[in-house]
Amino acid sequence: MTEIIEAIKRSAIKISKAIVDEEFGYEGSVNSSGEEQLKLDVLSDKIIEEELSTASSVKAIASEEKSEETLIHENGKYLVAYDPLDGSSLVDVNLSVGSIFGIYENGWSGKNLVASAYVVYGPRVELVVATIKAERFILRNGKFEFLQELQLLQKGKLNAPGATQKYWYPHHKALVESLFAEGYRLRYSGGMVPDLHQILVKGGGLFSYPGTKDKPRGKLRKLFEVFPFANIYEKAGGRAINDAGERLLDLSCSELHETTPCFFGSHYEIKKVREYYAKSKTA
Ligand code: AHG
Ligand code: MN
Ligand code: MN
Repeated sequence: MTEIIEAIKRSAIKISKAIVDEEFGYEGSVNSSGEEQLKLDVLSDKIIEEELSTASSVKAIASEEKSEETLIHENGKYLVAYDPLDGSSLVDVNLSVGSIFGIYENGWSGKNLVASAYVVYGPRVELVVATIKAERFILRNGKFEFLQELQLLQKGKLNAPGATQKYWYPHHKALVESLFAEGYRLRYSGGMVPDLHQILVKGGGLFSYPGTKDKPRGKLRKLFEVFPFANIYEKAGGRAINDAGERLLDLSCSELHETTPCFFGSHYEIKKVREYYAKSKTA
């Protein structure tokens, strides 16, 4: 595991430099989710693949930017899924972006996730790793220094509601509005890494990416985005569920790029999600 985390750290340093120095135009291709790829999406993917390939414990890798998984070391123990550059549509406006990693053993499913990590490329570069605890590191003079253990409060103050409002179901709209009516503040950049990082660091709140009328299964991908963050939120003392109230990490995954509606937050907000979504079934 240590060699995988070290490979992630080296990738993070290289990607943070690439974001500053390289061109950020489109590559002229689309990924498996039908999204246009930026040159930086492709370059970040290449950097991570190269770094993870040096770790003998890595059996196979799967990237949000590639349709199939790649075998790395036949005798390796771990499978690593990653989103090389999350929030890449924010690169041109110079907002924070990130990389997300899920480390699995014995197969691609929530139950098989053994550790996860993400990197935030903001004014500073930060790394959060969740094995037993969720720990935050900051890049200083080429080294990641330990900053703190992340721990969510029982109830937060921030609300990050994803997807296009026009397509929200009425019960979802009611949930979001009820949080605002309680005094929650809107914090949504459009990058799940900085948006979820903000909630974690400030102690709590809700990030939601629901199923909508146009995308009933949501947008965020289980292996590359949802499971890794579900683990980090749980390790920080929070909760992560789907629209049926199931724990995200209990979900299976039948296709590498499969998506799911998802909700990440502290206890109080996740309880509210359950209430509003349960009401929608009886209405
Ligand atoms: P990616 O750039 O890897 O495709 O991911 C973008 C994701 C995620 O970061 C964010 O939370 C979400 O898309 C935003 O989508 P909406 O604009 O639909 O809210
Ligand atoms: Mn993403
Ligand atoms: Mn991406």
